Formats: sequence, structure tokens, C-alpha cells
Amino acid sequence: MLGKSILFLTLTILGALADKKFPDTFRFGTAGASYQIEGGWNEDGRGVSIWDTFVHTPGHVKNNATGDVASDSYHKYKEDVAILADLGVKLYRFSIAWPRILPDGTPYKVNQAGIDYYLNLIKELQANGIEPVITLYHWDLPQHLEDLGGWLNPQIADYFGDYARVVYKALGPYVKYWVTINEPGTTCTCGYGQGIHAPGKSLVGDGIYTCAYNSIRAHAKAYRIYEEEFKKTQGGKVTLNIASSWYYPKDNSSSLDQLAADRTFEFNPGLYANPVFKGNWPQIVIDRVANRSKLEGYSFSRLPVFTQEEIDYINGTFDFFALNIYTSSIVEYTDEWPISQPTVWLDQGTITSVDPSWPVSESSWLTSDPPGVRYLLNYIQEKYNPGEIIITENGWSTVPGELTDTSRVAYLKGYLSNILDAIVDDGVNVTGYTLWSLLDNFEWAEGYTQRFGIISVDFDDANRTRTYKDSAKWYKRVVEARAIVD
Ligand code: NOJ
Repeated sequence: MLGKSILFLTLTILGALADKKFPDTFRFGTAGASYQIEGGWNEDGRGVSIWDTFVHTPGHVKNNATGDVASDSYHKYKEDVAILADLGVKLYRFSIAWPRILPDGTPYKVNQAGIDYYLNLIKELQANGIEPVITLYHWDLPQHLEDLGGWLNPQIADYFGDYARVVYKALGPYVKYWVTINEPGTTCTCGYGQGIHAPGKSLVGDGIYTCAYNSIRAHAKAYRIYEEEFKKTQGGKVTLNIASSWYYPKDNSSSLDQLAADRTFEFNPGLYANPVFKGNWPQIVIDRVANRSKLEGYSFSRLPVFTQEEIDYINGTFDFFALNIYTSSIVEYTDEWPISQPTVWLDQGTITSVDPSWPVSESSWLTSDPPGVRYLLNYIQEKYNPGEIIITENGWSTVPGELTDTSRVAYLKGYLSNILDAIVDDGVNVTGYTLWSLLDNFEWAEGYTQRFGIISVDFDDANRTRTYKDSAKWYKRVVEARAIVD
């Protein structure tokens, strides 16, 4: 009798789980970025970007790999869209290569062939019922603008605004979702702090903050231009992309560790989200960087100050939250503040680690902690009240050539079911999910050693042959069922 009841209960629970569906307001998709997939680096009038310069200098990227050909999507975009259509997804997130549109970054010379490439891609997507989500900047800055100081030059905001206007004008009639800048936190930290990404500058103590300041100003400019000149006729939505992990306090019962976790949120997503969603930097960041700068002998804070006019201009420049979420980490408080070398991490005053039980991907920074995404979605909803959230990146890396990618399926299953719970049980308004990534691609400083695609690309083959991994077959079934499947 008892056995029968347990069986009945189990079947009911399993039935309920199978019934749990992604609502109609939610759309599945995949994502990619220009420099990582396009190739065609010097074709049809494309200008030189900081990544071209960076990769063509030996020693910067593993095996001195380049994105000269990458996944060759510049030529194979129709095949890529056919794959998207077969997967059944309704969103495709891609980025525009700024130097393909404006070869030297300025609106003085517009390259029509570049515009045509993206117009053709959009038309192909629309013919297949797939909506584009377009990122204006995914790290391939025109070299000419870097020569003028890149993201450290305050005028970058004006250059970015002019570029955005050209793109809105040309592509805007077909686009409803715009992301201005992808993960400014990563490009500022890796490109202007640690020097491991283009343009390779190591200015840890202040380069990151100056880059952050100018990225936020540039984003706001592109948002306001859309709002004033295009919103009425094109009716799209614009936002800044922000990456965040979920941060657990190391010891739940320690208020200091809790404080450290809060600070980690404020110094990472908060550095970018707070000015855009609430106005100005987070107060804790203002205070700590000012204090440390003083100890280091500066007469001013290494964190640039927003004027009131800038705060008002930037505040509210969002129509949704574009979130990249990959992983979680554990944060411990430290009151050791070595001042010998100013770094953002020391400004933060934390020590981070991961749980040894979390599976590790091919990328050492990426471990799997599925519940983290549900916590994070609830945190964002409560803290920033963005109205709508799109998960613009989430994914897992494996070794080259692995088609039976069970670890990726396990990761995606865990993350997607927590996203589903956040939507259905917690009421978080997640309207889209663009899995990173459709294709294996150029993983920045790691070259082709870490593969994020659900579709494998053979980089030894001139034809860049595409092959479905198990994860792509699984994702296709999820998209069809609109539920988590085995
Ligand atoms: C975030 C970046 O936006 C993307 O370019 C990168 O490939 C993935 N993370 C994986 O590292």
C-alpha cells in the first residue's frame, strides 16, 4: 500500500516537473560576437580593430591563434541561420564589428559593404522567424580610436554615439533589441587593467575605473541618441550588458563575510549597474576607493567623479536588463589592505574561492553552480527592478572536438531549470535566453583551446565544417518542448 502511494506521489511529482513549461513570454536563442566568429578580418573595406593588432603580435594568445578566419561566419552566415532555424530558436544575439561599419571608427567614412553584411544577416534571420538581438560593441574597437586613447579617452562617448547613430539609421527598422556594450567589466579589467586582452594595457589601479567611467558615459550617449532620434519610429529597447556571478558569503553566520559578498556585488555588476539603474557609483565603492587612494598618496580618488549632470543623464538609461551569468563564487572578508599595488580586488577587500564540489569546465574560472542563477535573478529583480531581464549569455566550455558533451548538457540542464523556477515560482520576468554559444569560436586570449559552442567547428578544415554536439540536439528538444527534457 505504502509502496503504491510512494509510486503515485513520485509519478505526480515527475508529471508536475514535466508540465513546468517556459511561458509564452519567454524566447530561446543563442549568441555569438563579431570578432569571435566572423573572420573576414580584412575583407570588403573592414578597418583594423584592436583585436587584429593584439593577435598579430605573437605571445598574446594561446598558440598565437587569431580571429582572421575564426568560424568564418562572414561567409557562412546563411548556413548558421539554417542551423538556428533547425534548432527552432527565436532569438539570435550577434554583435556588429565597429570597424566593418566605420573603418577608422569615425562617421567620416561609412563602409556600405559592412552595413550590407549585417542587413543580409538580419533578412536571413527574419525570413526564418528569428529576431536579432544586436550588440553594438563586443570588444573590437577600431584601432584608430585606440590610438587616441581608446576607452581611457573621455571623447570615446561621442565617437560611440556617432557610431550608434549610423547603425540605428541603417539597421534600426529591423531591430527591437539593442545591447550597447558587452561586459564592460571584462574589457576594462582584462584590456586596461591586467593587459591580457586587447589593447593589452596594464593599469590595474586606475585604468579599470577610467575605462568603466567612459564606458558608462558612452552607453548613456548611445541610449539617449536612440531615445531622442529613433525610439518613436523604431520602437526598440536599448540597454547595457552586465556580467555577474552569484556571490555566496564564505561563512553564512559571519556578518563580515556577508558584508564582503555585498561589496563584491557592488564592485562588480554594481559598478556598471548602479549608475545606469539607480544613478552614480555604489556608495561603498566611492568610499573605499577614495580611502585607499588617500592611503596610497593620491590627492584625489582613483575612481572618477560623475558630475550631477552626468548622473542625471546616465540614470535610467535602460529598457531591460541584459545579463551574462556563468558561475558562482564564495567570498571571504579581509581587512588586510596592502597598498603597495592598487587593485580593484584589494579595493574590494575580499578573498574569493569556489566550492571544490562544483564541476569545473575547460575554462578554470567557470564552475557549475546551478542554484546561483536563480539567486542572482531574484537579486537583480529586487535590487534594480529592471522590468524585464534577458539572459544574454550562459554557457559552458569543453575540449576541442568533443561531440558527446555530457558536461555541457548537465550544466545547461541545471541552469535552465533554475531559470525556469525563477520565472514560474518566483515571478521574475525573464523574457529571453541566448545561450553562449551557437558555434565554437575564438575564445579571446585562450584562442581555440576552450570551446563554448553547441555546434562544433573544425578549425583545421578550410571549410570550417559545422557538426552538432549532443548539447545542440538536446537544446533543440528543450526548445520544442518548452520544458527541461532528459
Ligand atoms: C563573455 C564574453 O562576452 C564572451 O565573449 C566570451 O566568449 C564568454 N564570456 C566566455 O568566456
